Amino acid sequence: MVDSQITISLPGLEDGRKADEPCTIVIFGASGDLTARKLIPALYHLHIEGQMPGSFHVVGFARREKTDASWRDEMRAGVETHSRTRRVDNAKWNAFAANLSYHRGDLTDADAYAGLAKRLAGLGDPCLVNNLVFYLAISPSLFGEVVDQLRTADLLHRMEEGDAHWQRVVVEKPFGHDLQSAQVLNNHLLRHVRERQIFRIDHYLGKETVQNIMMFRFSNAIFEQLWNRESIEHMQITVSEDIGVGARGGYFEEAGTLRDMMQNHLLQILSLVAMEPPPSLAAEDIRNEKVKLLKSIRPMTMEAVATNVVRGQYFAGIVNDDSREGYRQEERVNPESNVETYVALKLFIDNWRWSTVPFYLRTGKNLPLRASEVRVQFRPTPNVLFAAQDNLDLHANALTLRLQPDEGIFLRFNGKVPGNSIETRPVRMHFGYDAEFGAYTPEAYERLLLEAMAGDTTLFIRRDEVETAWQIVDDIREGWGGTSLSNREFYAAGTWGPIAADDLLERDSHKWHNPKPAQR
Ligand SMILES: NC(=O)c1ccc[n+]([C@@H]2O[C@H](COP(=O)([O-])OP(=O)(O)OC[C@H]3O[C@@H](n4cnc5c(N)ncnc54)[C@H](OP(=O)(O)O)[C@@H]3O)[C@@H](O)[C@H]2O)c1
Repeated sequence: MVDSQITISLPGLEDGRKADEPCTIVIFGASGDLTARKLIPALYHLHIEGQMPGSFHVVGFARREKTDASWRDEMRAGVETHSRTRRVDNAKWNAFAANLSYHRGDLTDADAYAGLAKRLAGLGDPCLVNNLVFYLAISPSLFGEVVDQLRTADLLHRMEEGDAHWQRVVVEKPFGHDLQSAQVLNNHLLRHVRERQIFRIDHYLGKETVQNIMMFRFSNAIFEQLWNRESIEHMQITVSEDIGVGARGGYFEEAGTLRDMMQNHLLQILSLVAMEPPPSLAAEDIRNEKVKLLKSIRPMTMEAVATNVVRGQYFAGIVNDDSREGYRQEERVNPESNVETYVALKLFIDNWRWSTVPFYLRTGKNLPLRASEVRVQFRPTPNVLFAAQDNLDLHANALTLRLQPDEGIFLRFNGKVPGNSIETRPVRMHFGYDAEFGAYTPEAYERLLLEAMAGDTTLFIRRDEVETAWQIVDDIREGWGGTSLSNREFYAAGTWGPIAADDLLERDSHKWHNPKPAQR
């Protein structure tokens, strides 16, 4: 007998979804790293999978001197080096590349936008001319300038109900560096467009497994009924990286891990695992619940920061047999820097469902492996039946949502060891994406670009979300003040973080559960 298959989808996330309306994507920053590594490979894959609109065009905008042909060649090399298949079919590439053109210009030069308008007008089809996705793959310090210039050049309009055409602005992270700068940026963008025209990217939301958190919770009664303070003792969210700052030392000295990772990826994952069920799967309903959750996080007072937040910074060590320099020895890093490359924190969500349940979040660089996972630790059973057994290894149940790599879900429970004694051992049930669905997992940017073309904002961050997250991060930074790192906050590259982070959990009689290497 064959199991029947039921498909439930978020709006805009159906298999085989296609962006229907013809449009032009203008990429500002077309000669940059993000365009070659992520954007063009994603668009190429959408094209070969038949998910691009029947008619589309891509204009690359940057300062460097290039021709259409030389930009196309560079983009082809980008696909060959960085795309998930790394293979390019000549005929398919040629069909795709015929839609790419390069526009040379400076982002601060009004004439360059006038030239862009002329180029777009030359595309003829009113949809290609007027349905425009402006992708800002540039420094956030230029976002305001670009939208001003687009407005002046009559390329960007505030949308009204019933408009025949649309324009959308996609912005990359970092979206501001604190609450105030995010508000300034939001106010600037909103002078020219409506909120529903702004697509703020957090590429974690484009990942299949992150999208699956909601599906998993709300389509499985057995777990959702346990998803509360009665059954769950605590949760851990870990996003570990096995690389250091590399060439990004200059940027990192300004940012630090709290702003670079915690403000966006970890708080996004938290809001999905902890939010209330939305009244519908409409973008605004989902985003309302996420914001509500972020607003329910207990404020990080100075005392809370001192006891519940740990910073860390790596010193020299070995990761995967590779020796690594300390952060302070990295290029363009102050040799006395106190910038954090690791953050662990405990927070509480003051709502009915989660009252008293600690959530532990941690993320850091130069940890032993790259992994993202959520571990849900259930409460132990009452120690009555087995109390008389010596050495009984009775573990509380735990559920792990592995977001990357080796994507899957694991449930740990106790099983009796075969034999005449009463001996138990924790065993695991394992669902792996690859085994169940095959290796096909679209890149996050494929999904995000598709959604931007389709006009669905579900997977993008709304203004109040980004600002609420900054408020949390600002409170923590204020709590840190200008203090230096203590000895207990340094960790050797290749270890799971500073001793102070272990102390944080030990005080609650818990311990970190470190992600395991992929089992391939
Ligand atoms: N790279 C990633 O994986 C990644 C990931 C997440 C977020 N981001 C964000 O995405 C944005 C772009 O990152 P990136 O790594 O691609 O940066 P990048 O490699 O430094 O590229 C910057 C681009 O901006 C263009 N540009 C700068 N000033 C300009 C001006 N005045 N006029 C015209 N073009 C100008 C550059 O063009 P010319 O050099 O030709 O002037 C170049 O194409 C940043 O906000 C970054 O934080 C990047």
